[in-house]
Amino acid sequence: MAETLIFANASQVVTCAGPARARRGTELTDAAVLVDAAVAVEGERIADVGSLANLRARFPGAREIDCRRGVLTPGLVDSHTHGIFGRPRYDEQELRAAGMDYMEIARRGGGIHSSVRDLRRRDEDDLYALAKPRLERLASFGTTTVEVKSGYGLSLDDELKSLRVVARLQRELPLRIVPTFLGAHEIPLEYRESAARRREYVDLIIHEMIPAVSRARLARFADVFCETGVYTVDESRAILTAAREAGLLLKLHADELTSSGGAELAASLGAVSADHLAAVSDAGITALAHAPTVATLLPGTMLFLGKTKHAPARRLIDAGVPVALATDFNPGTSPTSNLPLVLTLGVSQLHLSVAEALLAATVNGAAAVGLTDSVGQISKGFSADLALFDVQDLREVPYWYGDNRCVATFVRGKPCHTSDLGVS
Ligand code: NIG
Ligand code: FE
Repeated sequence: MAETLIFANASQVVTCAGPARARRGTELTDAAVLVDAAVAVEGERIADVGSLANLRARFPGAREIDCRRGVLTPGLVDSHTHGIFGRPRYDEQELRAAGMDYMEIARRGGGIHSSVRDLRRRDEDDLYALAKPRLERLASFGTTTVEVKSGYGLSLDDELKSLRVVARLQRELPLRIVPTFLGAHEIPLEYRESAARRREYVDLIIHEMIPAVSRARLARFADVFCETGVYTVDESRAILTAAREAGLLLKLHADELTSSGGAELAASLGAVSADHLAAVSDAGITALAHAPTVATLLPGTMLFLGKTKHAPARRLIDAGVPVALATDFNPGTSPTSNLPLVLTLGVSQLHLSVAEALLAATVNGAAAVGLTDSVGQISKGFSADLALFDVQDLREVPYWYGDNRCVATFVRGKPCHTSDLGVS
């Protein structure tokens, strides 16, 4: 028999309620902050939002969860992570501080290549043991849905191995996990010797990896790192077209470091999201404004790489592009699990309002992983995915930057993360 819960005594319930689709423009101005509201949950779903007295009358015998004057929000959606990797790459930090560029480190065989060498040596149990606490840490900051990419294997076996680890995490963690195949994260060093060899790797992705991933149902999305020096627009188009034909939804690392037409490509393919966009062109913004594509912005990456240029979030929003915020959690360019910190960067660096930043990490994050029907808002019928923060006002979530104010999360009505201070 499914348990009924009432989340009571929150100082604010921020519902993000509204249409079950990506929000654009002025739809992002209001996160729907309710005071004196409680939330009833029956089994896995939100049964209603209303006054405590009303919910007590309607759900007699419900177990009450005391939110202790905290702020209750939809569980956060981290729609872009590279969570399956081995050794952290802290050595590259000081190289960059001394002036060596991210792409130069990669050209010398470090960067993604270094994570690939490392991951290929590890077995599934080892990778699972590394990934589990990393995802639990992500969850501890308020995240209840996380997209996880492969992309440090870059061979058929190593990509499948990475995705099987994601599948095991999906089965064994309470967190909601969305898997993405990123066999096109780099051109592996052994295929970089000539144009013909490079073509061979693209063919391997198209003719072997994508069919195998799709047959084994190991990914919902396919992604490509479209960037000067990595995958060209033409290669990215060929890979994503094959992925779409195999039944995968599309994402693209687009215009992260240089403007190479990635946003235009993502828009033309109807990709679910175009990610990064720090170097997006005017034509790219216009193309996205006319597409269903969510612009997933990752300001933590720019911060960690020491770049001063951020994605033009305001121009994207003003043009009508739906914007999401995510961590880009990965060992090279963004080793943070802290999505609320990314909200801080959204406000301080991308000039978003707090409501825009929260909606970007809830409803629009859900849109970026194709889940707007079930997660991202506290509305009747939605999955009971909730985050409780030890603050009295929503604006404090990005204000106490770097702190972890999340005391509890629930996924499908069940506790996912609880801190010592938390409720149970
Ligand atoms: O999103 N840009 C490509 N992928 C990651 C970095 C991966 C790495 O350096 O390990 C990113 O920034
Ligand atoms: Fe990324």
